[in-house]
Parts: sequence; structure tokens; C-alpha cells
Amino acid sequence: MATIFLLICISCLLLIATWRNMSQNGKQPPGPIALPLAGNIFQLNPKNLPESLRKLSEKYGPVFTIHLGPQKIVVLYGYDVVKEALIDQADDFSGRGSLPLLKRLLKGTGIVTSNGETWKQLRRFALTTLRDFGMGKRSIEERIQEEARFLVERIRNTHEKAFNPGRFLTHAVSNIICSIVFGDRFDYEDKKFLTLIYLLDENNEYQNAIQTQLYNFFPTLMEFLPGPHQKMLKNIDEVDKFILEMIAQHQETWDPSCPRDFIDAFLNKMDQEKENGHSVFTVESLTRSTLDLFLAGTGTTSTTLRHALLILQKYPEIQEKVQREIDRVIGRDRSPCMADRSQMPYTDAMIHEIQRFIDFLPLNVPHAVIKDTKFRNYFIPKDTMIFPLLTPVLHDSKEFPNPEKFDPGHFLNANGTFKKSDFFMPFSAGKRICAGEGLARMELFIFLTSILQNFTLKPVVDHKDIDIAPLITSAASIPRPYEVSFIPR
Ligand code: HEM
Ligand SMILES: *[C@@H]1O[C@H](CO)[C@@H](O)[C@H](O)[C@H]1NC(C)=O
Ligand SMILES: *[C@@H]1O[C@H](CO)[C@@H](O)[C@H](O)[C@H]1NC(C)=O
Repeated sequence: MATIFLLICISCLLLIATWRNMSQNGKQPPGPIALPLAGNIFQLNPKNLPESLRKLSEKYGPVFTIHLGPQKIVVLYGYDVVKEALIDQADDFSGRGSLPLLKRLLKGTGIVTSNGETWKQLRRFALTTLRDFGMGKRSIEERIQEEARFLVERIRNTHEKAFNPGRFLTHAVSNIICSIVFGDRFDYEDKKFLTLIYLLDENNEYQNAIQTQLYNFFPTLMEFLPGPHQKMLKNIDEVDKFILEMIAQHQETWDPSCPRDFIDAFLNKMDQEKENGHSVFTVESLTRSTLDLFLAGTGTTSTTLRHALLILQKYPEIQEKVQREIDRVIGRDRSPCMADRSQMPYTDAMIHEIQRFIDFLPLNVPHAVIKDTKFRNYFIPKDTMIFPLLTPVLHDSKEFPNPEKFDPGHFLNANGTFKKSDFFMPFSAGKRICAGEGLARMELFIFLTSILQNFTLKPVVDHKDIDIAPLITSAASIPRPYEVSFIPR
């Protein structure tokens, strides 16, 4: 009896909620009915949200509403709606919606999670310093070339023995961020560096744990439960401490007339604005921005490279074609550089196809509308969280026939020239587009060509038996574990 009464009450509440949605300025996007607090827990599998959302899109169309726990989210499913929102209505959709985990991890004042004026200024500053010759004597391209030479040397020392290349790739990629923010790379054996990387690496694992995903559904509850998500938060505090130490060292040796790196450039900015009581450039936002660059810039790029080295083993003929192009354009006697890329359409297409195929961040990073927004025939109230999904864009079957097949031909014209596609959005699009896109593409190109210039990848199993399908989780798409040997050419 009590249950029935409760059910009637809940239904009434839901009806009232729906009616209120309808009556304000037009209707809100449709979606499954949500339970109070638990939301659409029965429609959304925390372990594989991308798949749950695909199913819902079949029922509700390209714009629909879900509830992740108590959090209301509007999902954009497909190229047309994602483009209309992020590009045609770029301003409206430029907010960052923070899921509980991201908010707790990044604490809100860095580039990734801030909003409004703070975000505008921190982002503009980061883009300027990340541009080549943004700071220091050496260009970012030279820093990547140097790191690629260290990486190749290190691989050579494995003497064709099969191993899992994950750690080498993480070290190389993290060192680029170290070089940019701290002024110099670390030796691969440096204790401090290894601790930092260990923490970041561990968190990469933790982020896919079920408890971590549940944190987004039930933050208050999970805050009290033990599990990998707690270790993840502790690790972040350690990384924070490390960054604060580095900042203190920089403050001691800082010379405003010659900024060595991102931190120095930021200290200059703080100095210029010291009369301004409302400056967004503070030690706090410097720490958070630096952490953002590490968290956003390391796992993304190194995991993409890890996918790449697996996929290239699966397709020896693709690897060979890339190597022929490297030999023709770069030769064997010098480091690859970005100017080579325009003459290497096949390699360029291969790298684009890797990013398209692996679909690294299926859900993108959450956005929010910064004001009451009319979108198509719907009304979306200010601050509503938005998921502009990337999977349906990168795997659109009209733009990329056979989207589940790896094929560099997706980015090649019939005459072998590079074919651009507006659907290439692994970095998202619009005002929030990845701030490290240029850097990431430089790293992918120079690291991959340097490796293939010097080695041929040899799988430990028959290449036909390699499974390149990414393991999809709610956070990121990761390759199946593998070992490979590098045969000097
Ligand atoms: C293959 C590598 C990478 C991929 C696939 C990737 C992808 C993304 C995506 C999808 C977003 C969300 C964009 C949005 O909200 O619409 C993003 C944001 C961001 N990324 Fe990347 N990223 C990569 C590498 C990097 C690197 C190397 C850096 C470091 C410099 C970086 C820094 C950032 C920052 C700071 C943001 C937040 C931008 C903002 O909120 O304004 N990313 N990235
Ligand atoms: C890659 O190989 C070429 C010769 O094949 C060599 O000149 C170059 O130094 C090698 N790169 C590294 C980093 O060892
Ligand atoms: C190759 O084909 C594309 C589109 O089919 C065309 O735009 C381009 O001009 C062609 N380039 C050459 C060199 O033939």
C-alpha cells in the first residue's frame, strides 16, 4: 500500500516537472523519465555510457535529455547538431559543464574547468605561450624533435626484444609538457620525474574504474566510500605539491627579461597585473593551469600513440607505405619536421585515421550553455550541461564509409592527395576546442615518423590475429594490452 502511494506521489512530481518544462519558453528536449536522485540509472550503464546513449538516440533522435544522478544533461548526437551548437551557436555553448569528478579533480580555476572572464584570459594566455616561439629560446618543434631522438635511442637499447611500449611513450609525451612548463625535460631515470609519471599513469588506470564512473552519478555517497577514486584524488594532491615546488623554484630564479618557460611567462603576467585587484593570474590559477596541461596533455597523446603502434602492426602494408613516404621526403639522415607533413599526404591521412578510428574521447568533455538558449525548436535553460558527443561524428557512415574499419583512404582523394573532412573532430570544435591541438598534432607526427624512420614494428603474434578494436569505457578509449619488438631498419 505504502509503495503504491509512494509511486503515485513520484508520478505526480514527475508530471509536474514535465509540465513545468513544457510551459517555460517552449519545450525542452525529450528523454526517458528520470527517478528522483538516481536519474536514468536504469537506462545508463556507467561502464559504457557511449553505448547507452547510442540506444537512447535511436528512440529520441539527435537532441535528448538524460539525468546522470540528479544532474540534467542535454545530449547532442550527430554531426549536424554538434556543428550547429559548437560552431553556429558557439557563444551560447561555450560554457564548461563540470561533472562531479572533474570538478573535484581540477578544482575549478584552471583552463579546463573555469568559465567566464577567468577562462577567456587563461585560455588566451595558454594558447599564446603554447604557440611556437611563445617562450624560451627553443621552439616547441625543436623540443619535440629532441625528445623523439631520446625516445628512438631508448627503443634502440631494447635490442629487438618484445615489450609493452606504454611507459616509454608516456615518458616522452610528459617530457614535452615538462619542457614547456618547467623549461627542461627530465632524464628518463630521474627519481622526481618517475614519481610524477607514476602518479599520472596510475590515475589513467583509476579513471576507468567503475567506482570512478559512479562518482559522477552519486558524488556525495562516493566521497565517503573507499576505492580507486579516492587514490586518484590523493595522487592529484601529490602532483599539486610537485607543481608548487617547481613554481617556488622558478620564483627564486625568475628573471622578467627572459622568460624560460610557461611558468616564467605566467609570473611575468602576474607581475604586470599586480596593481589589478581582480587579476585572474594568481599562484592558484598558475598551479591549476599547469596541472590542466599535464592531465589534458599526457594521457591523451601517449594513449593515441599506443593505439597507433598497435594498429600499424596489424597492417604491415600501411606501415610500409608510410616508410616509403618517409624515405622519399625526409630520408634517413635528419629528424622529421613539421614542414615535411604537407608533402606526406599518406602519413597525414594515416594519423588522421588513427584519431578518427580510436575515437579517444567518445563523450567529448561536457559543455554548458552560458545563457537561456533556443536550439532548433527547443528551449535549454542557462547552465544546463551539454554532451556534444564525438563518436557519431567521427564514425558517421556517410562521411566515412565502413566507419568501423581502419582505412587511411577515409582521408585521401582518388589521386592520392590529402582529403580534408569537417567531420574530423577528435579535438572537438568551436570556442572550447582542445587548447593543445597544435601541440598534440606536432607530437603525433614527429614521434610516429621518427619511430618509423628508424624501426619496423614486429608483432609477437600473427598480424591477422591482432585485435585493434579499442576498449571503450565511459572515460576514454584504450588499446588492448600488447607487446611489440622494434627492428632497426
Ligand atoms: C591526441 C591528443 C588530444 C586529444 C584527442 C584532445 C582532445 C580534447 C578534447 C575533446 C577537449 C574538449 C574540447 C571541448 O570541450 O569542446 C580537449 C580540451 C583541452 N585540451 Fe586536449 N586533447 C589532446 C591533447 C592535448 C594536449 C597535448 C594538451 C596540452 C597542452 C591539451 C590541452 C587541453 C586543454 C587545456 C583543454 C581545455 C580547453 C578549454 O576548456 O578551453 N590537449 N582536448
Ligand atoms: C634514425 O636513423 C637514421 C639512419 O637510419 C639516423 O641517421 C638517425 O640518427 C636515427 N635517429 C636516431 C634518433 O637514432
Ligand atoms: C586531386 O583530387 C582532388 C579532389 O578530387 C582535387 O581537388 C585536386 O585538385 C586533385 N589534385 C591533383 C594534383 O590532381
